[in-house]
Amino acid sequence: MYKAYVFDAYGTVFDVHSVMKKIHQFFPEQGPTISQQWRDRQIHYFLVRQVMGEYRPFTDITRWALLDALANSDVSVKPDVVEELMEEYQHLSPYDEVSSLADEHPDKTFTIFSNGTNSMLEPLLKNTNLTETFNLLSADDVKVYKPHPEAYQYAQEKLGVKKEEVLFFSSNPWDIAGAASYGFHTAWVNRKQDKWPELGIEPTHIIDNLMNIPE
Ligand code: LAC
Repeated sequence: MYKAYVFDAYGTVFDVHSVMKKIHQFFPEQGPTISQQWRDRQIHYFLVRQVMGEYRPFTDITRWALLDALANSDVSVKPDVVEELMEEYQHLSPYDEVSSLADEHPDKTFTIFSNGTNSMLEPLLKNTNLTETFNLLSADDVKVYKPHPEAYQYAQEKLGVKKEEVLFFSSNPWDIAGAASYGFHTAWVNRKQDKWPELGIEPTHIIDNLMNIPE
């Protein structure tokens, strides 16, 4: 039995592509392209910042990725549209099984550990009624992004457990690889039945949603 159950937020607990419903209001038919570009650039930009050693908060990263996703989608954008799309990040849809996690596992404590800032995540948890389900840790507390080992070290120290007592959940292979390399046990949440990428390290568990929490 693990002592700490830790979850990535964006893509794992929350569907980042639920922003498409808002994107469609402004740019019909371009939702999938803009949403995918937004997410791909968001990941690329924080990874570049981490490797450069020039941390910028996830609010900036997410805004910059959105601006470039829109610029590359050849749409004319008014400033208030950017603000409305950024605001949507505080209203992302949790995946279906998330709402019953606390009731299904009354004996477990759940923590979100995300590269998102507290200013992004606290309203999101409140707006989705998940404040009571998850404790919250942000990489912004130490200004080091996952998958850098110091990010996972921060989470481990805050949780006060041994590495092997943590089960870390993420749908993002870069995050699972980082957590596994650091020494956490890991559960890759593979909702789309993708192939695990050749990263030279394997997840401890592969699950298709968060209902099946490995012991
Ligand atoms: C998170 C995203 C970046 O850390 O996966 O929640």
